[in-house]
Amino acid sequence: MTALTLVRPDDWHLHLRDGAHLRAVLPDTARRFARAIVMPNLKPPVTSVGLAARYRASILDALPPGMRFEPLMTLYLTEATTPADIAEAMESGIVAAVKYYPAGATTHSAAGVTDIARCHGVLAAMEEAGLPLLVHGEVTDPAVDVFDREKVFLERVLLPVVRRFPRLRVVVEHITTREAVDFVEAASENVAATLTAHHLLLNRNALFQGGLQPHHYCLPLLKREIHRGALLRAATGGSPKFFLGTDSAPHTRATKETACGCAGIYTAHAAIELYAEAFEQAGALERLEAFASFHGADFYRLPRNEDRITLEKTHWNVPSQLAFGDEVLIPFRAGERVAWRLAEQPAPTGAEA
Ligand code: NCD
Ligand code: ZN
Repeated sequence: MTALTLVRPDDWHLHLRDGAHLRAVLPDTARRFARAIVMPNLKPPVTSVGLAARYRASILDALPPGMRFEPLMTLYLTEATTPADIAEAMESGIVAAVKYYPAGATTHSAAGVTDIARCHGVLAAMEEAGLPLLVHGEVTDPAVDVFDREKVFLERVLLPVVRRFPRLRVVVEHITTREAVDFVEAASENVAATLTAHHLLLNRNALFQGGLQPHHYCLPLLKREIHRGALLRAATGGSPKFFLGTDSAPHTRATKETACGCAGIYTAHAAIELYAEAFEQAGALERLEAFASFHGADFYRLPRNEDRITLEKTHWNVPSQLAFGDEVLIPFRAGERVAWRLAEQPAPTGAEA
């Protein structure tokens, strides 16, 4: 196959940051995706509808003229979130979901939840309202091996939650293990998962290939090859429970290449192209469109997009670095090739953007 046309995809898990960083990365996403679920782990976090509305306005303001993109906002769950916040979120029409970070699990998660039992009132309100809970599924218990934190979270924390709130709509974000695939498949239709391109393309060897590779460090960590295989089968298997979420998470070069580097991999510059590589590797390119463009919209009860994008089977070289405000960021595959390229698109006619 030399070209692949698909309904324009959406990114169901994305970090856009703010200020100059937001302006630097947003066009990469908006060129490829119609909508994205925007993560709320800013400093300070997006904990209220008011903050979400301001953040949304700043994203739309950062969008280059002529580009269309719809940010779907999320609220950052804290132990101070109330059922009234959920009611306000539903009324606002701009909040698509609530994000649950176990406190300390990842970048900017310090304000997250130490004990989910403290949020049961809010979860009940979300279950009633149909507002999805997006889960960073890792325990923070230092006694648990870092490669087992997702598996242990599913058993210890998430299973009791889905049993207690069977109608709660849950997305297990950026799953990385065979156990997570099994968990989602065995759960009710209210439970789904996002998959990143990097977890479909790499196993944990990539962290240490010829030396320590900070640009392959993300959370949850890359896992063994058997897990990558399970993720690839889940993504390409046609189940509506699995959909695209890049978890593209830009950090400056300086905060990655340092003694205590940040977690996060930037993939927005080649996101759908990288998924095409993974699907092609699995011999399942014909399944990419449903995974990237249908399953997520259906789960979120949003209309599917109508316009299309085309990918061409042409190699291109990823720049060795990208501008990131006054700083630089190192993109995934920096200085290396990507096998698919997004075709130039005609400018939208009569765009009211
Ligand atoms: C994300 C970030 O940098 O905001 N980092 C990451 O490694 N994925 C946070 C997250 O999604 O865990
Ligand atoms: Zn993330």
